[in-house]
Amino acid sequence: MGFNKITAAEAAALIQNGDTIGLSGFTPAGVPKSVPAEIARKAEKEHAEGKEFKINILTGASTGQSCDGMLANAHAIKFRAPYTTNKDFRTHVNNNEISYSDLNLSNMATQIRQGYLGQVDWAIIEACEVEQTGGKARIYLTAAGGISPTVCRLARKGIIIEVNAFHSKKCMGIHDVYEIEDHPYRTPIMIMKASDRIGKPYVEVDADRIKGIIECNIPDEARAFKAPDAITTQIGNNVADFLLANLKSGKIPPTFLNLQSGVGSGANAVLGALGQCPDVPNFSIYTEVLQDAPVQLMREGRVLSASACSLTVTNECLQGIYNDMDFFKDKLVLRPSEISNSPEVIARIGVCSLNTAIEVDIYGHVNSTKICGTKMMNGIGGSADFTNNAYLSIFTCGSTTKGGAISSIVPFCSHIDHTSHFVDAVITEYGVADLRGKCAMEKAAELVKVAHPDYRPLLLDYMKYAAQNGGHTHHCLSAAFAMHDTYLRKGDMRLTDWAEYVK
Ligand code: COA
Repeated sequence: MGFNKITAAEAAALIQNGDTIGLSGFTPAGVPKSVPAEIARKAEKEHAEGKEFKINILTGASTGQSCDGMLANAHAIKFRAPYTTNKDFRTHVNNNEISYSDLNLSNMATQIRQGYLGQVDWAIIEACEVEQTGGKARIYLTAAGGISPTVCRLARKGIIIEVNAFHSKKCMGIHDVYEIEDHPYRTPIMIMKASDRIGKPYVEVDADRIKGIIECNIPDEARAFKAPDAITTQIGNNVADFLLANLKSGKIPPTFLNLQSGVGSGANAVLGALGQCPDVPNFSIYTEVLQDAPVQLMREGRVLSASACSLTVTNECLQGIYNDMDFFKDKLVLRPSEISNSPEVIARIGVCSLNTAIEVDIYGHVNSTKICGTKMMNGIGGSADFTNNAYLSIFTCGSTTKGGAISSIVPFCSHIDHTSHFVDAVITEYGVADLRGKCAMEKAAELVKVAHPDYRPLLLDYMKYAAQNGGHTHHCLSAAFAMHDTYLRKGDMRLTDWAEYVK
C-alpha cells in the first residue's frame, strides 16, 4: 500500500467545524505549517459564507504564525492548550475571544489520555520521513517531540502528515520516542542521565490510519533572539558566580548539576554567559527547549550532552546541526514533552533550573505568565515542571522593564505561578537573593537588595507600612498592588504615593 499524497487544501477540507486537532511540534520547531495555514483560509471562507467554523487545538507548546497566528486572526480557534508565544494569538486571548487553557507541559499528554481535553479527531504531524513496514508506518519527527506519540495514537479520524524537505533526513535518529503508561500501570522512566535513550527513533502507527501525506519545503518559524545586552550578561555572570560559590561550599555536588534553561532572549543570554565562565565545569543539559547558545556550547565541548523536547533555534543553527549530525548524534536527544519535562526524572537526576520571571514579590513568589495579573503573556510552559522538582531552582529577571517604569520586584505579585516554597534564588543584574533557609521577612530583605536602586526606597517604605500590621508575613493589603495600580494609572511605578493607598 502506498501513502495517499494530497495537497494541504485537500487536508484542510477534511477538518470539520468543532474538530480537535493535535499537532506535532513544540515552540515553532517541528510544527506542521502548510495544513494549519490552509485551515485558517478555509475558516475565512466559511465565515464569509455565514457558516460557523472553529476548531480546538492541542499542541506540545507554541506553534508559529502559520498556525496560532493565522488561525487566531481567522477567528478559527475555539479552545487551545497549552503554552504559546504568538503575539496575534495573545491579542485574541486577551480580547477574550479564545478559551485558552494554560497547563504544565509535562502534563499535557497525560491530560489528553485522561480525556480531560476531549477526544482528538486528527493528528497533524510534521515529519522528515515516513516509512512503511507491512501494516505499520514509522513517522520520523523533525525538530521537536511534543505530544506527537499520544495524538498519533488517539486521533480517531486519522493522521495527516506534512513531509517537510526543509528538515534533513539526517534528523532520523535524533528522537527517543517513549510514551508513559496510563495509571495505575505506570512504570519508572529509566533515564539516569541526559543522553540515555529508552524508546524508538520514530512514532509507530497502523499505516491505514494515515489519511494523507503533504510534501512541502517550509522553514521553521523560529524567532530571532535579542542579542545579549549589558543587563542579561551581568545576570549571566551573577548566575555563574552563584553556582561556583555553591560548588565551592559543597551545596551542589562536585560533579555539578544538569542545567535547564527557560525560553526567551534572557534565558539564551544567561546560558551563554554561564558557558563562557571558565570556572564553571563542563555540564549536561536536561531541558525542554534547546536554544542557540547551548548548541554553540556543545560545539565547544562545554555542554557534554543535552536532552530536550525541541530545537528552538534559528534556522541557520538548525541547518548547522543537521550538517554536523555525526558530531551531535550521541550528544543530543529529543523527547516527547512528558519525558523531557518529567517531574520524576528531573527530581532524580539533579537539575538546576533557570527560568525567567515577569515579576517576583518580596516574599519570593513568582509571576511568569500574567502582566498586571490580567493580561496573558505566554503561559507557564515547563517552568513549574522544572522549578518544582529541581535540586536548585533559580529565577532570573532584569530588575526593571519598560525603560525603568516597571519594577520586577514588587510588594505582592499580581498573579502567582510559583510559590516561594519552590523558589531557591532570584537573580537580577544587582545580585543574588538567596532565599534558601530563610523566613518570609528574611527573604524580603534579600529581595529588596536585588531590586533596582530607584525602587529600593519604595519597597522599604512598603515594608515599613506593612510592619504596622504585624503577623508572620507583613502586608498592608490596601497597598499591596499600589505599584501596579500606579503604573496602570500614571505609566510609571516610581510615581507610587503610599499615602493614597495605606489605610
Ligand atoms: N510587566 C510588564 N511587562 C513585562 C514585565 C512586567 N513585570 N516583565 C516583562 N515584561 C515584558 C517585557 O517588557 C517584554 O515586552 P516586549 O516584548 O514588548 O519588549 C516582554 O515582557 C518579554 O520580556 P523579556 O524581558 O524580553 O523576556 P524574555 O523574552 O526572556 O521572556 C518571559 C520572559 C517570562 C515572558 C518568558 O520567559 C516566559 O514566557 N516564561 C514562562 C514560561 C517558561 O518559563 N518556560 C520555560 C520553561 S523550560
